Amino acid sequence: MEHIEAIAFDLYGTLYDVHSVVARCDEQFPGRGREISTIWRQKQLEYTWLRSLMNRYVTFEQATEDALRFTCRHLRLDLDGEGCRSLCDAYLRLQPFPEVPDALRELHRRGLKLAVLSNGSPHSIGAVVGNSGLRSEFDHLLSVDPVRVYKPDDRAYMLAEEAFGVTRASILFVSSNAWDATGARYFGFPTCWINRSGSVFEEMGQTPDWQLGGLDELLSLFDGRAAASKQH
Ligand code: LAC
Repeated sequence: MEHIEAIAFDLYGTLYDVHSVVARCDEQFPGRGREISTIWRQKQLEYTWLRSLMNRYVTFEQATEDALRFTCRHLRLDLDGEGCRSLCDAYLRLQPFPEVPDALRELHRRGLKLAVLSNGSPHSIGAVVGNSGLRSEFDHLLSVDPVRVYKPDDRAYMLAEEAFGVTRASILFVSSNAWDATGARYFGFPTCWINRSGSVFEEMGQTPDWQLGGLDELLSLFDGRAAASKQH
């Protein structure tokens, strides 16, 4: 880990729990929250990948709204304009996983440069991070929007290299999304897969360099760094 100078984190599902929208979905469609949230997230991802393949980029907010509309039609639920706005708004107020704030603060304190690298738009990343009070922990909030293509395309991962100004081998990429960790590893980032739910990794020719149960476990990878920074 001595050669790692910076860490790029995926946002949705890694730092923030996409299923924190369940309660809001349940208010609107009682008893259906979990089902809506699960299909909504899966469709949202599919739409980003499909749009990249078709070279028909829309912002992540638009893909998220389109996925919600599909989900409600699929489940035969009546979604009006106001309901749609309110549920999409819930996506801007996701909760960080419990261990995330302290872990970010500690990594930052140890002198690592930190960034978010997300398929979200600048607006949605800024809102999610800002609403949770964690903005000051990050050196960069990187959206794929400038390259108009989504992760796992290499052009998206390249944004972290450009922003940090160091080579990919010096940037640890951290994601809970196994497809994202796969793309990052093909790109050439040392990669850590956060597996909070005991899932299995993708069968796409890569394995993560580290597999951890949460962000708190990331700190132990940088124990040497704490000692080094105390000496100076
Ligand atoms: C992100 C989503 C796709 O890029 O997990 O933050």
